[in-house]
Amino acid sequence: MRTLLVIGIGAGNPDYLTVQAINAMNRAEVFFMPDKGLEKSGLNAIRLGMLDRFVTNKRYRLVDFAIPSRRQADTPGYRDAVQEWRDKLEAAYRAMFAELGEDGVGAFLVWGDPTLYDGTLRILKDMQAAGWDLAIEVIPGISAPQALAAQHQVTLNRVGEAVTITTGRRVGEGEADALSSAVVMLDNHQVFQRFAPTEAEIFWGAYLGTPDEILVAGPVKDVMAEIDAKRSEAQARHGWIMDTYMIRKPE
Ligand SMILES: C[S@@+](CC[C@H](N)C(=O)[O-])C[C@H]1O[C@@H](n2cnc3c(N)ncnc32)[C@H](O)[C@@H]1O
Repeated sequence: MRTLLVIGIGAGNPDYLTVQAINAMNRAEVFFMPDKGLEKSGLNAIRLGMLDRFVTNKRYRLVDFAIPSRRQADTPGYRDAVQEWRDKLEAAYRAMFAELGEDGVGAFLVWGDPTLYDGTLRILKDMQAAGWDLAIEVIPGISAPQALAAQHQVTLNRVGEAVTITTGRRVGEGEADALSSAVVMLDNHQVFQRFAPTEAEIFWGAYLGTPDEILVAGPVKDVMAEIDAKRSEAQARHGWIMDTYMIRKPE
């Protein structure tokens, strides 16, 4: 049976790799590398650096893969588009798994942790449920919210409170307005600006864990212009950006 290792590699710093992740990387014959895009090539450079540094047997192969993009849920013909997308996805994965022998071991080096805002594990579990003969192993990694909290030296939860990790789109729709704190990922529109009229503080980080890391913290109303300027400058320089932040209301 083919084995697929879904390895969390941490959100930026190669030192975030766990011993379990390094051991798993040393078992893989093939690494499936996400293809395309400036962001992907930047992240793949970090992945390649990890393979170079931590894999002692250099007999592995790299196989590029591209995940077909999926139409938004609110666009016309969405159901047909999802079926079309699933068919394309299955064809892509079939081609990838053909790269592995019957008992081969392949690995996905998933950014951060594989269980947080990443589709790899869901797709593999769907394929397993659909009858594909696959063994799956998941290795946890240090996620962007953990890296953010460590770099700013803050806890994600207030005493006895829940932790909310959510998306920029949902916060833009007002989801976090009534919460005392929230960690926000996948925000391309700086929706934290909606908290400018409040006393909320922001702990913001871009390219966390990498040599390009940028950190800004303070009341939203005081630092939002600084974040905007640093974000635009960095995005123009790199061609892509990944940032995460926590919004916290005063106690
Ligand atoms: C598709 S999600 C993947 C999250 C990843 N699985 C994790 O555990 O962190 C991508 C989002 O994670 C956040 N992110 C990931 N790495 C980051 C980093 N090094 N610095 C800042 N934000 C990061 C950004 O919000 C980005 O839009």
